[in-house]
Amino acid sequence: MGMRILGWGTALPDRVVTNADLEKTLDTSDEWIVERSGIRQRHIGESTAEIAIDAGRSALSQAKVDPASIDLMILATTTPDQSVPATSAHVHHELGLGGGAFDVNAACAGFVYSLVMANGLLGSGAKRILVIGAETLSGLTDWNDRNTAVLFGDGGGALVLESVPDEGQLLSWDLGLDGSARHILHADLGGFIRMDGREVFKRAVRVLVDSATRTLEQAKVRADEIKLLVPHQANIRIIQAACDRLGIEHDRAALVLHRTGNTSSASIPLALVDAIDHGRLESDDLVLFSGFGAGMTWGSALIRWQAEPDE
Ligand code: ACO
Repeated sequence: MGMRILGWGTALPDRVVTNADLEKTLDTSDEWIVERSGIRQRHIGESTAEIAIDAGRSALSQAKVDPASIDLMILATTTPDQSVPATSAHVHHELGLGGGAFDVNAACAGFVYSLVMANGLLGSGAKRILVIGAETLSGLTDWNDRNTAVLFGDGGGALVLESVPDEGQLLSWDLGLDGSARHILHADLGGFIRMDGREVFKRAVRVLVDSATRTLEQAKVRADEIKLLVPHQANIRIIQAACDRLGIEHDRAALVLHRTGNTSSASIPLALVDAIDHGRLESDDLVLFSGFGAGMTWGSALIRWQAEPDE
């Protein structure tokens, strides 16, 4: 038993904040932000539930499945709307889903954690699972702190998954955590994100490369066989440094961070759907998702793409 991807969708709030907008309130420049991060703009606004509902609805409609036929929904988010109940309760109700739902907080690796969990559940009885990554990092951002304010944005992405009798599309995976590094990127309850950028950068490249390598080795796949790397969208320089060490050409990485900023658990589905929309994937292409985030968490998953779910 395994999983098949039936549909996908994304959501971004309407309001766009450009680097030029940030120049008005912060001691920063478009040039600095683009050179150091690759980010040109970010979308801001709405609640996490609203973004998750939009992304989930779009994926369900593309998959042409009845929301009530969903067995389980997993919402990856670091920015829930309330402490209790889980944001997934709101999303589940508005989408009219069947089965249960819960939130997962594994920071920017949350979408990969959720995908791997869904794969396991589809192999043990679940029929259809909706996985959503949705974030409103704008609410956790101190807009007076130039070290972090230029990096983050809001957004969401979703996949509808179905159980299939064969091995399915997920070929291998790797999840991990080094909690001794939890102080380098954190937000206290009611507080803002604080980050040691240089330390996060260094560790991010290392864990991305190590996790991707373990995932490829498990499936006996070489890096040069990867058609598309879908990395967490934190910083173009982290992505390019990881590509260099993995032996993956830069143009094989899916990129949306220039227009979305870092959207944590939403960034991998946003980048994946952008690549699909640009015709970058064909049946049987190998796609490697790789995320890392606060904790530090990391997670990779190797997927064999299937262009049309009905093929
Ligand atoms: N505009 C202008 N100057 C700035 C800004 C800014 N927005 N921010 C910092 N600077 C200054 C610093 O104060 C420093 O000045 P100094 O030399 O006088 O002290 C100088 O620019 C260089 O600062 P560095 O921190 O060395 O810059 P760096 O090249 O490391 O880039 C960045 C900073 C972009 C934050 C980088 O370290 C990075 O991307 N780190 C990883 C961040 C990340 O991925 N976070 C999230 C991952 S997990 C998750 O998503 C939850």
